[in-house]
Amino acid sequence: MSNQRDPRYDILFEPVKIGPVTAPNRFYQVPHCNGMGRMFPDSMIEMRGMKAEGGWGIVTTEQCDFHPTGDVQPFTETSMWDDGDLPYLAAMADAVHEHGSLAGIELVHNGQDSGCLYSREVPIGPEHRPVTWHQHPIQARAMSLDDIRAYRRWHRKAVLRARQAGFDMVVVYAGHNGTVPSHFLSRQSNQRSDEYGGSLENRLRLYRELIEETRDAIGDTMAVVARFAVDEMMGKDGLEWAGEGKEAIEMLAELPDMWDVNVSDWENDSMSSRFAREGYQEEYISFVKSVTSKPVSAVGRYTSPDTMVSAIRRGVVDIIGAARPSIADPFLPNKIRQGRPEDIRECIGCNVCAAWNNLSAPSRCTQNPTMGEEWRKKWHPEKIAPKESDSTILIVGAGPAGLEAALALGKRGYQVTLAEARNEAGGRITRLN
Ligand SMILES: Cc1cc2nc3c(=O)[nH]c(=O)nc-3n(C[C@H](O)[C@H](O)[C@H](O)COP(=O)(O)O)c2cc1C
Ligand code: SF4
Repeated sequence: MSNQRDPRYDILFEPVKIGPVTAPNRFYQVPHCNGMGRMFPDSMIEMRGMKAEGGWGIVTTEQCDFHPTGDVQPFTETSMWDDGDLPYLAAMADAVHEHGSLAGIELVHNGQDSGCLYSREVPIGPEHRPVTWHQHPIQARAMSLDDIRAYRRWHRKAVLRARQAGFDMVVVYAGHNGTVPSHFLSRQSNQRSDEYGGSLENRLRLYRELIEETRDAIGDTMAVVARFAVDEMMGKDGLEWAGEGKEAIEMLAELPDMWDVNVSDWENDSMSSRFAREGYQEEYISFVKSVTSKPVSAVGRYTSPDTMVSAIRRGVVDIIGAARPSIADPFLPNKIRQGRPEDIRECIGCNVCAAWNNLSAPSRCTQNPTMGEEWRKKWHPEKIAPKESDSTILIVGAGPAGLEAALALGKRGYQVTLAEARNEAGGRITRLN
C-alpha cells in the first residue's frame, strides 16, 4: 500500500464553491432513504456521520417530508412537520459537521403518491386521481390555487426550519415522478387548464416558485440545490432530455446554486448493474453544463476514480453524486485520497438496499455489512473488533460467504482454517459463465 495519492485524482479533492458555501471536495452523497429515518433516528444519524468521516464532502438526508398532507407511511423516512422534529435533524447535521463536511436536507412532499395513512389528511396533487403508491382505495384531490399558495408557504416554512436545524444546503426536489413539483411538470399527471397546467412554462411554474421562495427565505445563508430529473424515460409521452427537459433547465438555469440532475422514475435512476454500466446517466444529463454556469452534479453508480475524473475532465459534471456507492463504501473518498483505491468496496448494483427500504425496514447492503448497524452494534466499516478469545476457527466452504468470514475473522486476530471440497475457492461465482 503506497499511501500516496495518484496525482490524477487530485481534481476530486478540490473544493467547490456552491453559492454561499464551499464543499471541501467533489464527493456528494445524494439523498437516499435507508429505512431508519425518523423511526430509528440514532441509527440514521450515525450512518450519515460515518459517510462524512469517510470523506464525502456533502452528506444529505433522504427525502424529508415537511407536511402531514405528504405523509409517506408506511415508508420510514425523515420528516419535519413541526419544531418537534428539529432535535434529531440538528443532530444529523452536527454529526456531518464534525468531520468538516456540508450537511444537506432534501425537502419533499410526495403529493398524490402519499397515502397519509398516519396523518389521515386528504392527499393532494395537480389533479383528482387515485393515490399511486398504495393498493388501497385512497383518492388524492386536485389542488386549488389556494392550496398551491398554502403548499408554497409550508415549503418556505420547512426551508426556515432546515436552517434552524443547522443545514448548509437545501435540496428542492423535482425528481423521480414522485414529488408535487414533478407531478405538476409531468404531462402524465397534470391536465390542468389554469396557469399551472398546459405549456411547459406553466407546468414548471410551481418549481420555479419554490426555488425563488427558498432563495428569498434564506438569502445567502444556505445553498439552494435543484434536484431535477431531465428525462422521464418514456419517450414522447414524457419529458425528454433533448426536448422539454433541456428547455426546463434553460428556463431556470441560474436560479439555484447547484444542479443535481438525473432521470426518472426511481427504477431508471437507481438502475441495477444488470442493465446499466457505471456513468449510465451521462447521455441524458451531459448537456446541463452547457446551459448553466452553476456547478452540476450527476449520479450513475460511480465507483471508479478514473470514471469520476473522466466525467469531470470531459465537462460532464463538477461534482460526483452517489447514493449506492456511498452505502457500499462510506470510506470511498478517503481510500482514493490515501492512494488505496483497490480497497474500495464496490457497489455491485444489486439494489438490495432499495429492496429493504421498500419493506420499510432498515436498509442493508450486500457489500457493506456494517450499513445500518453503526449505532446499534457500533460496527465500523473500516475497523473490526479484536478477537475476544483464543479459539481457533474452522470454516467449511470457500464460497463468497466463507471467504469473507475468513478474511474478517483473520483481521480480528483469530487463527482460521478454511476447508473446501473442490480444488478451487469461490463457490458459485466460479460457475458463472
Ligand atoms: C435505497 C435508495 C433510496 C433512495 N432514496 C432517495 C430519496 O429519498 N431521494 C432522492 O432524491 N433519491 C433517492 N434515491 C435515488 C438516489 O439518490 C440516486 O439518484 C440513485 O440511486 C442513482 O445514484 P447511484 O447510482 O449513485 O445510486 C434513492 C436510492 C436508493 C438506492
Ligand atoms: S445493496 Fe447492492 S446496490 Fe445497494 S449499495 Fe449495496 S452493493 Fe450497491
